[in-house]
Amino acid sequence: MKSTKPDQQKIVIVGGSSGMGLATAQRLSREGYRVVITARTQARVDAALGQIGGAASGQALDYADRAGIAAAFAQVGAFDHLVLAGAGPAAWGAFAELSRDALREAFDSKFWGYFDTLQAALPPLADRGSITLVGGAAARFTLPGTAGLAAVNGAIERMGLTLAKELAPRRVNVLSPGLVDTPAYDWMAPEARRGMLEGAAAKLPVQRVGTPEDIAEAVLFLVRSPYVTGTVLDMDGGARLG
Ligand SMILES: NC(=O)c1ccc[n+]([C@@H]2O[C@H](COP(=O)([O-])OP(=O)(O)OC[C@H]3O[C@@H](n4cnc5c(N)ncnc54)[C@H](OP(=O)(O)O)[C@@H]3O)[C@@H](O)[C@H]2O)c1
Repeated sequence: MKSTKPDQQKIVIVGGSSGMGLATAQRLSREGYRVVITARTQARVDAALGQIGGAASGQALDYADRAGIAAAFAQVGAFDHLVLAGAGPAAWGAFAELSRDALREAFDSKFWGYFDTLQAALPPLADRGSITLVGGAAARFTLPGTAGLAAVNGAIERMGLTLAKELAPRRVNVLSPGLVDTPAYDWMAPEARRGMLEGAAAKLPVQRVGTPEDIAEAVLFLVRSPYVTGTVLDMDGGARLG
């Protein structure tokens, strides 16, 4: 990383078309970073770019396509910061009934997606750049029914901490979100979604669930804090306190 001025730093936000990734792209673009977002299709990239503005650009990148991931980074060229915020199918449910196929699918998407993306990103990533892995709070506390989520996000979290040493002086941090109101819950009926979010908020010390903008602010902190590496930043409204 040659410069500490945002406008001379390029940041790739994987999963930048929606939710936390989109809010992060908007926040960092406003801050002056040269933002590159990815989503699975160019149409999704283009739709998001219309909501980001500035000098943002984008690339199609699907975790399911290892060759396509490499091609996307070849297009991006040298860059300074990587944020992995892509989602995938999640494996919810009581362990006794947890579907092996669902958990395998969750690993195939989020864990192996992060793995493949990180490997492809390393050659063009600045040696004093940063990596932020968006994990998940299920890996940080013990909530029955989330063993599958804990397994996937726990694997990412532990891998990230080891990489903070192995890839140094690149900085590697994990951001661990609790419940954040994003389009990931668009599949729910509006009434059920409102009830779920309000119920969760009432149990949290902060009395509200997270917003994509909360996460964006935290990513900005991790990206521009040269003395922060090997941390897990809990963005969960205090959920892990029980
Ligand atoms: N929301 C929560 O409560 C919550 C809680 C804990 C952890 N998280 C984690 O936080 C991260 C962001 O979640 P979010 O709520 O912001 O989700 P979101 O709004 O659904 O956005 C997901 C993003 O991931 C991309 N994506 C989906 N499948 C992909 C694939 N196969 N390859 C590459 N990109 C793919 C989507 O791109 P397309 O436009 O192509 O769909 C989109 O940009 C995820 O890792 C999620 O597991 C979320």
